[in-house]
Amino acid sequence: MECRLDFERGNIVRRNSVIFIFWSLIIGSVQELLLGKEWQYVLNYSSQGLTSIPRDLPSSAEGLDLSLNQISKINGDDFSSLPHLMFLNLSYNIIENISPESFKSNPELECLDVSHNKISNLSCDFLDFTPNLRYMDISFNTYTGMTLGDAFRSVIQLEYIALSGEILLNKDFESLADIQLRTVFLQLQNLTHYENTSLNCLNTQTVMITVTNRQTDVEVISDALSIAEEVTLLSVKNTSDYLYQAFEIQKGQKKKKASQFTFINSEMSWGAATDTLNVILNSTFIKHLYAYGFVMLGSIWEKKPIPKTSVESLTIRKASVTNFFFFQGNLYDFFINIMVKNLTIAETPIIHMTCPQSLSTLQMLDFSYNSFSESVFSKNETDCNNLTNLNTLILRGNQIQQIQKLSSRTKYMTSLKYLDLSSNSLKYESGTCHWPDSILTLNLSSNSLDHLVFNCLPKYVQILDLQNNQITTLSGDVFSLEALIELNLGSNRLLEIPHCEGFGKLGTMLLQDNSLYTVSLGFIHSCRNLTVMDVSNNPFMCTCNLKDFVSMKDQYQIEFLHWPLAYRCSYPETLNGLLLKDFHLSELSCNLILLLAAILCPIIIVTIAATILCIRLDIPWYLRMMWQWTQAKRRTVAIRHQDVPDGLLFHAFVSYSQHDSVWVKESLLPNLEEDQSFRICQHERNFIPGKSIVENIISCIEKSYRSIFVLSTNFIQSEWCHYELYFAHHQLLSENSDKIILILLEPVPQYLIPSKFYKLKNMMTKKTYMEWPQDKNKHKLFWANLRAALQIDLPTEVMAEPNSDAEGLLNEDTQHMLNHL
Ligand SMILES: *[C@@H]1O[C@H](CO)[C@@H](O)[C@H](O)[C@H]1NC(C)=O
Ligand SMILES: *[C@@H]1O[C@H](CO)[C@@H](O)[C@H](O)[C@H]1NC(C)=O
Ligand SMILES: *[C@@H]1O[C@H](CO)[C@@H](O)[C@H](O)[C@H]1NC(C)=O
Repeated sequence: MECRLDFERGNIVRRNSVIFIFWSLIIGSVQELLLGKEWQYVLNYSSQGLTSIPRDLPSSAEGLDLSLNQISKINGDDFSSLPHLMFLNLSYNIIENISPESFKSNPELECLDVSHNKISNLSCDFLDFTPNLRYMDISFNTYTGMTLGDAFRSVIQLEYIALSGEILLNKDFESLADIQLRTVFLQLQNLTHYENTSLNCLNTQTVMITVTNRQTDVEVISDALSIAEEVTLLSVKNTSDYLYQAFEIQKGQKKKKASQFTFINSEMSWGAATDTLNVILNSTFIKHLYAYGFVMLGSIWEKKPIPKTSVESLTIRKASVTNFFFFQGNLYDFFINIMVKNLTIAETPIIHMTCPQSLSTLQMLDFSYNSFSESVFSKNETDCNNLTNLNTLILRGNQIQQIQKLSSRTKYMTSLKYLDLSSNSLKYESGTCHWPDSILTLNLSSNSLDHLVFNCLPKYVQILDLQNNQITTLSGDVFSLEALIELNLGSNRLLEIPHCEGFGKLGTMLLQDNSLYTVSLGFIHSCRNLTVMDVSNNPFMCTCNLKDFVSMKDQYQIEFLHWPLAYRCSYPETLNGLLLKDFHLSELSCNLILLLAAILCPIIIVTIAATILCIRLDIPWYLRMMWQWTQAKRRTVAIRHQDVPDGLLFHAFVSYSQHDSVWVKESLLPNLEEDQSFRICQHERNFIPGKSIVENIISCIEKSYRSIFVLSTNFIQSEWCHYELYFAHHQLLSENSDKIILILLEPVPQYLIPSKFYKLKNMMTKKTYMEWPQDKNKHKLFWANLRAALQIDLPTEVMAEPNSDAEGLLNEDTQHMLNHL
């Protein structure tokens, strides 16, 4: 037995558990003892050619390996500098003597290996100072008798002891009588003398014995069976006789009996093996039989009768044959027909198993890591119907390829609940699968299945493991697994989270290590019962879609396994490795409506503000005014280069209604005539006696550079009639002409203009008119504009006799027209 660690000088090391795997199968208790603890700081001085214990070891060391050296003596103070020493390996040295004081300073010592030395007696006085010792190996020394010294009485924590020797006498183990041990390992291959009942004072759960393969074994095995629950024999070779005798002795005895029997590293012929098995199977007390590392010598020829048995479980691991030419059927038939409840044949290169000949008692079959194909259990291609009690079938790690064929093998296993087909090479192509309805757990992990496998599943399966296959999609509407509660699709190639149509009861969905780069939340609606999910280790693309996923996490009562550390962004490059937990995008950048709103809002606000400002400040009015002003200025400049038309006496003639005379007299005239800048012809003021009003008006118009009409409702209704006809005949005053300036004193709706005044209507639509602003601030601009429109240089002297030639200025046309009026 080993209490071995990885030793590395001065380094912190962890226990290498692999070393224990094999042994742990047999003596779980010792493994627990050793694995339950870790020595943090182990010094490795193995194989250094040392002849004595090195000095100045670091005092913090918890372990020290001095095996495979030339140390011959352990002195009283050799380990005094290591107060925390728990583990000490002194095996494979030449130690003859260990001083009683050796471990005086090491009260914490738990594991001591002094095997393969030259210790000649087992008084072991040094144990007086090691009350915490749990593991001790003192086998393969030079002592022959196995009488343990009194010092062993003080190691009350002892759980494991390994001894070897040639002579074992009745009182040898008396010192251990009060100690409850887990395992006693007796290396008795050199035993020459055994006194009956020598093991009886041992108080242990397990006895492991390396046998002599001679007659001495009978008493030893017999005693072991009566004192321990578990008896393990190592290196048994073709000794069914001794075993048979030992069991015969035990049958007659009433004392406590073993219930578990184990062979380790046995070698037997087919005959001896079946005989040996029969001995144990026929015993009434052994319930569990194990064989590890079994080598079958020779060939298998004989067909052996199938024993009746009270053994419940038979486990064979790592068995092998030396001769491959044998009747395989005999081998298979022998094992499958043994009436046990649990049968395990594993890690053994057998390629086939037959169907039991009659209704089988088997409840559990574990055939993991053999070399089975889908033809397992078939006999002449008929399906096996004798395994109706079987509820667990493990075919993990075989070479099964066709899942559809295999399903037929299980067709009549009507109690089968748990089926493990993991780590095969399963494929499904087509055809109906014949699973029994009883299957609740199906393990199909590590195969070569794609999404078609969903057409080949047991109807009421609850737990389905499809990890590590080739599934790329999954759509639940083509099949129905009503009872499915747990689905493991880890390590496949899914691009999307599957919806749960077809398996609405699903509570656990595992999708780790797939190709999910985004997570659309569509599945939430059909997966109503989902409580656990694993979406870890997927190549997430950290964009807006994923944001929904992260927020969904808090919204729904779903537990995400391995959150947050196994959830990281893969894309975009810049976010590679970022935890999803820390991935934030602003609400704005992900919400289109918000984004539009954010862009449009300012535009709308600015527009509205501008509109309001325009209306408030009457900017259009100003613009119009400015336009007119510039136009007027432009014209003035143009006119300057021409000659002033002949006969002009006034800058403007003003026509208005009596109702508006106040405005004309108090605003218009004062403003224009203010500094003598403009001369205005007003038919009242510049009245030529002896002429009608109309004649006066027309005379005024003709002598004026411009004609201003002050438009108002009143004006249109009362005054305009005078002009309509005149304009109709007078080319000079066509409606487009610059000569006319319209001032709109108040808003005049079009409908108020009588239809017969079509000239006016035309003018008002074609010509721009000047609006008299109500706002006082605008008056200045209005006047400026008006002045600009009137700007022309007139000869001043004409003013002297305004009346005299006025008449003469009326041209012929006018004269003519006036006669008609
Ligand atoms: C002590 O060392 C030997 C040789 O290296 C090894 O075989 C043995 O398992 C070790 N003992 C323990 C208890 O680890
Ligand atoms: C048989 O195997 C089942 C399933 O592994 C297990 O639960 C049960 O304890 C085993 N029974 C015996 C007698 O070993
Ligand atoms: C399926 O088998 C694999 C190993 O073959 C194991 O890791 C896994 O836990 C099993 N799944 C279930 C649901 O038992």
